[in-house]
Amino acid sequence: MKRRSFLKLSGISALSGISPILQAKSNSKVFRITAKPGQVNIVGPTFPATEVWGFNGQVPGLPIRINHGQAVDATIHNGLDMPTSVHWHGIRLPNAMDGVAGLTQPAIKPGEDFRYQFTPPDAGTYWYHSHVNAYEQIGRGLYAPLIIEEADPPKVDRELVWMIDDWRLLDDASISDDFGAGHDKSHAGRIGNVPTVNGRFRDVIKVQTGERIRLRLINASNARNFALSFGELTPSVIAIDGQAVKPYQTKEPIIIGAAGRVDLMLDMTGNPGSMHPVVDSFYRKPFDLTTFAYDDKPLRESLLDSSIDLAPSNLPEPDLNNALDVNVTIAGGAMGGLRRARFNGEWMGLREIAQQGYVWALNDVVGNKLDMPPLIDTKKGQSIHMTINNETSFPHPMHLHGHHMKLLSIDDQPLPEPRWVDSPLIMPNQSVELAFVADNPGDWLFHCHALEHHAAGLGALVRIT
Ligand code: C2O
Ligand code: CU
Repeated sequence: MKRRSFLKLSGISALSGISPILQAKSNSKVFRITAKPGQVNIVGPTFPATEVWGFNGQVPGLPIRINHGQAVDATIHNGLDMPTSVHWHGIRLPNAMDGVAGLTQPAIKPGEDFRYQFTPPDAGTYWYHSHVNAYEQIGRGLYAPLIIEEADPPKVDRELVWMIDDWRLLDDASISDDFGAGHDKSHAGRIGNVPTVNGRFRDVIKVQTGERIRLRLINASNARNFALSFGELTPSVIAIDGQAVKPYQTKEPIIIGAAGRVDLMLDMTGNPGSMHPVVDSFYRKPFDLTTFAYDDKPLRESLLDSSIDLAPSNLPEPDLNNALDVNVTIAGGAMGGLRRARFNGEWMGLREIAQQGYVWALNDVVGNKLDMPPLIDTKKGQSIHMTINNETSFPHPMHLHGHHMKLLSIDDQPLPEPRWVDSPLIMPNQSVELAFVADNPGDWLFHCHALEHHAAGLGALVRIT
């Protein structure tokens, strides 16, 4: 009997080389990943390759994909000539595995390793990225997908993972090294000139008429937000920030803020042989992010009509009747009207603060270091009801580590279907209401994922004891 059919008959998963018994016992998947320089042809063959930093030297870096219930056992080797660390964005994990250098672990020194071990409690679309000098390390490519597969995923013909990024390249396709420029810090963050999907500018994605594709979108940009339109297609949104939503079809552009994720189900209805761009329109000038090219041969005549529902996520439900109310005001930046704020515990004028490289504040406090008094200090199990007011002229994707938050309302309009988020994009002058159970002990970062904003003071701590 051939090995393949034996495995099939006996119901053992075909993990080559690993004893099924050992595999079942440890139930973890082992990864060895090196953060190191590499070369990627981003712009195309007529340009030189771009020198990047990547996990295993690739951009996106080595994808991590496990089954729900499996553990990640990832040893990160630092092959850069500066310290680094890895944060597992959106995963509810023990604080010591969160990867925030200087807060949850010491930075990994050049030549050294750090072993991360955790079992993600939720299936879905996540990512991992550097959390040291992030605007430069992520900006040079240190990010990768982290996918936790559902036990019983909806049936599709194919799955695509698109890590979207936005590079600031010079004419020779090298990365502009003006990371953390003052203008980027005080305005919209580092917005580039070369938007890419999986490290490729204006790629062409081959598809077939009638095909059903699950598209996992991950926005790894330093600061660029996207509003993606799929032309004649009508995408169904099935998950946001990794968590299942009741599927809904929409022709509206799909908004995906920096660090955000959206899972779409696409039934490819274009004509055989046709080309259809995916267009971004978040900022003033729309552009083609990438293009679908249909094969001459359709895959099937009529579309699949099987269910696209994901199992609902299993997150702790906040108790709004006994919740701690927290109001957070985001202020500062250019055209923001913030005059003074507390910096290292003292009230100071914004100009003086700006001279030190900081321009943003949460509740009038500039988040310039990791050992500050926490914004929220609470006991494990406490429900938090948080209202965030964005009193600035820029959008802010606000990320809370180690938790998911339920988005309850936007501008006082309750959402008909509240949804779980870990990086909600809050638009200028918008106010949002969120709730979560502070059930994961530790000091957690809460910060803007426009990385230049975080570096310029838009961050705080949530302490759970
Ligand atoms: Cu995705 Cu503090 O980061
Ligand atoms: Cu911001």
